[in-house]
Amino acid sequence: MLRFFPNILLSIYISLSAISAFGGSFVLNGQEYRFIKQVGSGGYGNVYWVGSGGRKFAAKVNTRGGLSSEMINPEVFFNDFLAKHNNRQGINATHDVGTVKILGDSRFDPSKSYLVEISALRDQSLRRYAASELRLSKLTSAETVEERLERSLRVVTDLLAGLTTLHKSGYIHRDIKTDNILVTSDGRAEIIDWGLVLNIKERSLGTKKLVGTPAFVDIDLLRSMRFQFYNDYASLGAIIFGLLTGFDSPITALSSSGKLSASQRQSEGLTTSFKTKV
Ligand SMILES: Nc1ncnc2c1ncn2[C@@H]1O[C@H](COP(=O)(O)OP(=O)(O)OP(=O)(O)O)[C@@H](O)[C@H]1O
Ligand SMILES: [Mg+2]
Repeated sequence: MLRFFPNILLSIYISLSAISAFGGSFVLNGQEYRFIKQVGSGGYGNVYWVGSGGRKFAAKVNTRGGLSSEMINPEVFFNDFLAKHNNRQGINATHDVGTVKILGDSRFDPSKSYLVEISALRDQSLRRYAASELRLSKLTSAETVEERLERSLRVVTDLLAGLTTLHKSGYIHRDIKTDNILVTSDGRAEIIDWGLVLNIKERSLGTKKLVGTPAFVDIDLLRSMRFQFYNDYASLGAIIFGLLTGFDSPITALSSSGKLSASQRQSEGLTTSFKTKV
């Protein structure tokens, strides 16, 4: 027992340091938010679980500083779209966006201002949900194929609704992929990550600079080099392929088809003939 004592002290020390590192807070439009835990990260910065007035939220904090020329101004997009579509099917509710000082947290410089986006906190991304709840090759004896397909159908319906709302407002997302979709505890899918959103009205001539994620890109975009609203549906198509097969997307499947070991092929539910056809 005594042998483990120092280890216990060390873990208590580590836990206490972790708690104190998350002691910071910020005030956005008169509301105070306290950091609780980091829940995600990306090119833009990190996403945290924050608490305010006894409620949970997600706070996306831009630690990179500044926005690239391809990124929409989050405050403009919030006022023009997100604030008006907070309860819409397929769209993660964003409650507020603004610039704040973060105090009492060693990871943030108290003299700097950070752009933060406050949105509805969810448990998991579609990537994780698909791996455990949708993939047909992971079917357990306690469920039927129909139950899994029913869940996939609900995800696809939500995403089609979300994309249609976005497009009707004149915007395209340009980075639809499983990491940019969250799933609620009752299996509803919601689009997030509006950093690459493009206003089609303002940029009707399209853009020559390709942005997005190669595995989910619309092949037509590679040919035309011109963003169109239907590029988002092609990315959704890649997601649907992934939900059913277990690959991220057709492009991932193609690029890995020559390299899969026999055991991986088996675990992904692929047959040898499928592989040969690819
Ligand atoms: N509301 C939320 N609830 C729970 N987790 C979230 C939430 N928003 C984001 N996350 C997690 O944080 C990750 C990064 O968030 P997001 O995709 O918005 O940022 P990003 O990829 O850094 O953005 P960008 O592409 O603009 O650089 C997500 O993939 C997800 O895992
Ligand atoms: Mg993202």
